[in-house]
Amino acid sequence: MNIIATSSARPVARALTVEEKHEIDHEMTLYPDKKAVGLEALKIVQKHQGWVSDESLMAVAEYLGMSAHELDGVATFFNLIFRRPVGRNVILFCDSVSCWIMGCDGIKDHISKRLGIDYGQTTADGEYTLLPVPCLGDCDRAPVMLMDGEQHRNLTPEKIDQIFSQRAKNK
Ligand code: FES
Repeated sequence: MNIIATSSARPVARALTVEEKHEIDHEMTLYPDKKAVGLEALKIVQKHQGWVSDESLMAVAEYLGMSAHELDGVATFFNLIFRRPVGRNVILFCDSVSCWIMGCDGIKDHISKRLGIDYGQTTADGEYTLLPVPCLGDCDRAPVMLMDGEQHRNLTPEKIDQIFSQRAKNK
């Protein structure tokens, strides 16, 4: 992570990396207005840094000529921009109505028990963060969760055990 440590409580914009600038510059060629790139720029930073710290947010805002406040509004509105550190794998667990009807609460409890974390928490080894999300658009195959870009459907406790056992083997 390329985040400048500051001794004061006030965050200071860090320097964006060459890769981040390069990718943000590319996005700027696709939009008529620099400010319209805000969300994509935050996604780029998150891809490289794992999350969007205050220092990163300020750096992106400066680069796009926006106020940090304005850009933070974008980050807050889009709930997949992580403004706090997350684990290497983020489990986005759908808790909307179809998944709820199909018993997602029990599945979530199973994940929580297995990993020892609740919503908003990260495992002690930094491997997993569990977050609730609204509908993932796969309601007919509820309950559903998204992890590392892969949607896991028709979840059962057994299926959860399989997924995490397999991942542990592949490590
Ligand atoms: S409600 Fe869970 S995928 Fe739609």
